[in-house]
Amino acid sequence: MASQLLSAAGNHISLPESYVRPESQRPRLRDVINDTNIPIIDLGSPDKQQIVAQVADACRSLGFFQVVNHGVTVDSMQKMMGVASEFFHLPPEEKAKYYSDDTTKKMRLSTSFNIRKESVRNWRDYLRLHCYPLEELVPGWPSNPASFKEVVSAYCREVRRLGFRLLGAISLSLELEEDYLEKMLGEQEQHMAVNYYPKCPDPELTYGLPAHTDPNVLTILLQDPNVAGLQVLKDGRWMAVRPLPNALVVNVADQLQALSNGRYRSVRHRAVVNSDKERISVASFLCPGNSVVISPPEKLVGGDGCRAMYRSYTYEQYYDKFWSRALDEHCLDFFKR
Ligand code: OGA
Ligand code: NI
Repeated sequence: MASQLLSAAGNHISLPESYVRPESQRPRLRDVINDTNIPIIDLGSPDKQQIVAQVADACRSLGFFQVVNHGVTVDSMQKMMGVASEFFHLPPEEKAKYYSDDTTKKMRLSTSFNIRKESVRNWRDYLRLHCYPLEELVPGWPSNPASFKEVVSAYCREVRRLGFRLLGAISLSLELEEDYLEKMLGEQEQHMAVNYYPKCPDPELTYGLPAHTDPNVLTILLQDPNVAGLQVLKDGRWMAVRPLPNALVVNVADQLQALSNGRYRSVRHRAVVNSDKERISVASFLCPGNSVVISPPEKLVGGDGCRAMYRSYTYEQYYDKFWSRALDEHCLDFFKR
């Protein structure tokens, strides 16, 4: 029901019981590391080898990095954030038209993560869009705000180009042919989650998104340059990512961990909320074609007695598993050999 949207209600004075985490699962914001930066990779650098080395480093260690000079225009990023904000501030009856909890829908507005499966709510509303092929999907997108379709599709095109460029660098960093991943991943789907985290009356008791890994191959996140919220697990401690204006945050997702046979890490991350400012982020997910079999290249298996960590599966099988659960376990663990 659309009335469950956080953005349908006015200001919240206290946190409803259904959002309160048990003591042991709370974010403990005081323990978060605030003063470190995640690696920044300048994709405009003429030194391609250095870029590949930096990508390898980041994917092996933190699983997260930021890119600058990435080819997505500032204009496009600003318009995307603008239209996202306008969307979530539409009147409730307008947003209600787009509401659905059915995780198989290619366009839907929902709340929390997966309200059919979870026991505690998350302080988030989100608009989820399938974005490839655009010509087929755009007609089903919201037509309010009036510029939505045009702005979001332009952003999607630019992000897709960046994603493929990153997959090239990642392939090289695994000593594979530059087009290896792009080829093996087939006709890649692209999904988007436009996340809206309203001001929260009690950020210590709840999450925007609890710890999770992303089910796809690679995620590219655009976030509000003025409001922090993304945190990444590093050596057992949560580290806050300081937003860097005009940068995009990239993370290794589950399929890249599987395809690299565990060399690259799909690291747990979460979004916390705050009581002063709402926050918007736009996550773009590159996803393998549904029927693509996920299995690491020969080169990354064998040798040194190292065998495939995960059994082979199709992305469709993985994706079904992902949405059949709450967010608390690492979905890849279900596919261990
Ligand atoms: C996601 C995600 C983080 C954020 O949408 O998968 O991790 O900062 N978002 O919104
Ligand atoms: Ni995520």
